[in-house]
Amino acid sequence: MIRPANLSDLDALVQLEARCFDTDRVSRRSFHYLLTRGHAMLLVDEEHNGLCGYALIRFQARSARARLYSIAIDHEHRSRGIGRALLTAAEDTARKHGASSMRLEIRKDNHVAARLYGKMGYQPFGTYLNYYADHMDALRMEKTLIPPAPAAMTGNATQPAHGVT
Ligand SMILES: CC(C)(COP(=O)(O)OP(=O)(O)OC[C@H]1O[C@@H](n2cnc3c(N)ncnc32)[C@H](O)[C@@H]1OP(=O)(O)O)[C@@H](O)C(=O)NCCC(=O)NCCS
Repeated sequence: MIRPANLSDLDALVQLEARCFDTDRVSRRSFHYLLTRGHAMLLVDEEHNGLCGYALIRFQARSARARLYSIAIDHEHRSRGIGRALLTAAEDTARKHGASSMRLEIRKDNHVAARLYGKMGYQPFGTYLNYYADHMDALRMEKTLIPPAPAAMTGNATQPAHGVT
């Protein structure tokens, strides 16, 4: 089940982050800030025994661009479609906030995430040199977010325009 995170998820998010990333982790303090005061939306995928993954989107005032700040799926739950489902839900959330595009950065050696983003329609458009703590470059990617069809916006549609599976 994909749902917005809340403060009771904080411990699980910090533990998940530590298992998923060796460097450049989102700190507990940052998670707390983003859950309470940041212009952000944190979505989690939860199963009966806890959190499987999260996607974190940030918004900027007066900008129609959203940013996928981070996404991570716990090791044992990978390659089951959860990353794609969370990214789809993140895009839906961004559209509802009025965003017309989503940007992200990815390590140049992260081929698994690059495949996910490529399949989801993200296009490379630039590079940040020496971006990560270990000096790895970041590839910048962007996707235009097509607004929902008019029928979906009026509530007449029987299915959401971009359903979460
Ligand atoms: C990248 C990540 C979020 C993908 O999540 P996931 O739930 O495993 O991905 P999904 O099962 O939804 O797969 C979506 C696509 O990702 C790619 N993918 C997933 N697992 C893969 C693997 N082991 N090898 C190659 N590509 C893979 C495939 O293109 C897949 O689409 P397909 O099934 O149609 O081939 C996950 O591997 C992860 O958390 N990695 C560590 C954290 C990270 O790198 N985050 C991204 C920071 S930019």
